[in-house]
Amino acid sequence: TGGLTTIDPGYKNTGSCESAITFLNGEEGILRYRGYSIEDLAEKASFLETAYLLIFGELPTKEQFEKFHTDIKSHSHVDEDIKKILDGFPKSAHPMGVLSSLTNALIAFNPSSVNVDSEEEMYNAIVKILGKFPVLTAWAYRKRVGKPLDYGDDSLGYVENFLKMMFKKPNGEYNASSTVVEALDKLLILHADHEQNCSTSTVRIVGSSHAGLFASISAGINALWGPLHGGANQAVIEMLEAIKEDGGDTHKFMEKAKDKEDPFRLMGFGHRVYKNFDPRAKIIKKSADDVLGALGIEDPVLDIAKGLEKEALEDSYFVDRKLYPNVDFYSGIIYRALGIPTEMFTAMFALGRLPGWIAQWREMRLRKEPIGRPRQVYIGENHREFKAVNER
Ligand code: SDX
Repeated sequence: TGGLTTIDPGYKNTGSCESAITFLNGEEGILRYRGYSIEDLAEKASFLETAYLLIFGELPTKEQFEKFHTDIKSHSHVDEDIKKILDGFPKSAHPMGVLSSLTNALIAFNPSSVNVDSEEEMYNAIVKILGKFPVLTAWAYRKRVGKPLDYGDDSLGYVENFLKMMFKKPNGEYNASSTVVEALDKLLILHADHEQNCSTSTVRIVGSSHAGLFASISAGINALWGPLHGGANQAVIEMLEAIKEDGGDTHKFMEKAKDKEDPFRLMGFGHRVYKNFDPRAKIIKKSADDVLGALGIEDPVLDIAKGLEKEALEDSYFVDRKLYPNVDFYSGIIYRALGIPTEMFTAMFALGRLPGWIAQWREMRLRKEPIGRPRQVYIGENHREFKAVNER
């Protein structure tokens, strides 16, 4: 066993690295990117500005931001042959599987982004994936709805251009209201990084073998897909819809969520680190009210969500286990109001988390972290002699 006597399943009590990117305080519900509070950034920054902050450590000057955005736009086209790969998928393919595949496929069309060792090579790979990922995300959606795969308008901001790629009409028209653009921009900021969560740890460990940025991001997308992680935002809406279809009896679902036998959990509740409240959930809950109000949308599942939260905060099972709404609990309600379908919710989480994955991968590489290779406590058979098949 290599002298090991204890293990730490799920790394609940293991620190994997030193990092200067994101600070969480789970007891007090504090979240800061490079020292700036999530509340300030959600209110005053743009998503792309926040991406720059996470990756390079400082809020950009006007000139730095313009260059960053220009460099990203110079890489915001995707090789036409990628469409042939996308064409091979059935329309029913889940966008997260499509995105991890196409992100991996980008490597073949951008070989210089594989063995990146210098800061300049890293920068080029970074602006490439930031330019191309929104295109792939929009195309994953357009494929599902049978619409043409093309581009938005590079003269627009990063988020508005993405929305145009997603929703532009056959005649090319799309006028996103400022409410919609600002709502999505804020949501993406709130998803941008979260220290050593499952998908970020995945990006770091794949990147630690020097597999390259695109391969590491592709792995992170797959980790995020799981319903215990980013996939929860889709599972929350499916759960809320099920409660609505079942007559809206939230108490019945709360009881189910306590049943140890039933793998069903109260999706969107609980967190490994936040044992008080997830500050992002508070901001998203308020934004849901603001966005639905501004768009004049009445969504019954918002009331069901609020009813569940209220009941859980008064229920000893959840209170004793410090289970509170997390980032995934209300986000789907806003995505839906923006016209984004449920199957695309986790892809939206990936679009938001991309700068965080990039920042963490870059920090890991610049700090020359060793390849990730944990040990184990062996509990298998002792040495055995081989038996020929007629002796077994
Ligand atoms: C994200 O790590 C990150 O930062 C992730 C994330 C990010 O930004 O990257 O914040 C994004 O992934 C948010 C979480 C989204 N997932 C969900 O909403 C799925 C539902 N949540 C649970 O699966 C769970 O709460 C986790 C996975 C989020 C956390 O799991 P832990 O820390 O391993 O906690 P646990 O499973 O050991 O649970 C502790 C107790 C258990 O009961 P007991 O065995 O002590 O009796 O709480 C119970 C669990 O059964 N519990 C729940 C529950 N979550 C935990 N019971 C019912 N419903 C739940 N949601």
